[in-house]
Amino acid sequence: MIRALVTGCRGQVGSELLRALEGRAEVLARDRASLDLGDPQAIRRVVRDERPQLIVNAGAYTAVDKAETEPEAARAVNATAPGVLAEEAKRVGALLVHFSTDYVFDGTKATPYVETDPTNPVSAYGRTKLEGEEAIRAAGCDHLILRTSWVYGAHGKNFLLTMLRLAATHPEIRVVDDQRGAPTSSRQIAEGVVDLLLGSARGRPVAESDLGRLRDASGLYHFTASGVASWFEFAQAIFAERATQPGQAFTAPRVVAITTREYPTPARRPANSVLSNEKLVATFGARLPDWRAGLRETLSALA
Ligand SMILES: NC(=O)c1ccc[n+]([C@@H]2O[C@H](COP(=O)([O-])OP(=O)(O)OC[C@H]3O[C@@H](n4cnc5c(N)ncnc54)[C@H](OP(=O)(O)O)[C@@H]3O)[C@@H](O)[C@H]2O)c1
Repeated sequence: MIRALVTGCRGQVGSELLRALEGRAEVLARDRASLDLGDPQAIRRVVRDERPQLIVNAGAYTAVDKAETEPEAARAVNATAPGVLAEEAKRVGALLVHFSTDYVFDGTKATPYVETDPTNPVSAYGRTKLEGEEAIRAAGCDHLILRTSWVYGAHGKNFLLTMLRLAATHPEIRVVDDQRGAPTSSRQIAEGVVDLLLGSARGRPVAESDLGRLRDASGLYHFTASGVASWFEFAQAIFAERATQPGQAFTAPRVVAITTREYPTPARRPANSVLSNEKLVATFGARLPDWRAGLRETLSALA
């Protein structure tokens, strides 16, 4: 069994990764308390001591609005840390799997973004995530940078849980309808990583030869659930799906479509966050399932 270091292991994606890798790898799980990504020396020490064959960096500074006022804190975790992880991955010969974001784009393109499209982040968070991508490439380790979008799950801070909480007290909820993207569940991401590692051989542990295939395919990939929605459409789907669940009665609130202009936030968000997954499909013959399937699965897990 390979040794896999997972950082940020209590986050939405990190916690699902622990679950998905169980029995498939010897997982060295590190949360903020056991590996502070703001501390480069701590990162170097852990990688040199543990000598993992796979490093999955699920830790990140994800408070998009707060990053506008504390960009240096965001940069330490989103840009400096991935660069240090990549240098250390190169040193010990590990494959680094790292997550990036749709927010590296400005959202002005009319069609789905591909990996070769020029980046132009419009937020501090997006800028620091882009710097993280660049730092990994500069370090030159074997790596997969997986850009995902609109992540939600059964725990953590996310749109799904916010909508369900608001629904309990608000008969009407106003939701932005002019930003489009692919809501992607943390479980879809974790299971998607296992698919990349094992393909159809999911019943066995990950071997060094599996990592070898991915090393050969080193690079940047868009990695989002299939399908597209606006936040308004996502909210409608959440309540429609929740209403069909057996158990406690649920009264869906009225969802009112509003514009981004009517919902000002400290950080700007791209209007078009849709990422094309065609490179992923062409390289690995795999794509993540539709976002509605991820929503159903997550609501079932919550029930
Ligand atoms: N969330 C989204 O909508 C979204 C969209 C596109 C891409 N992504 C990317 O997907 C990846 C996973 O995101 P996620 O949704 O799972 O985020 P998340 O739930 O916020 O998890 C991030 C984890 O990183 C940890 N962390 C933050 N600062 C740290 C530090 N200094 N040292 C160690 N750990 C630290 C957090 O710990 P604490 O809980 O203690 O802060 C948290 O457990 C990230 O790379 C993110 O940029 C996310």
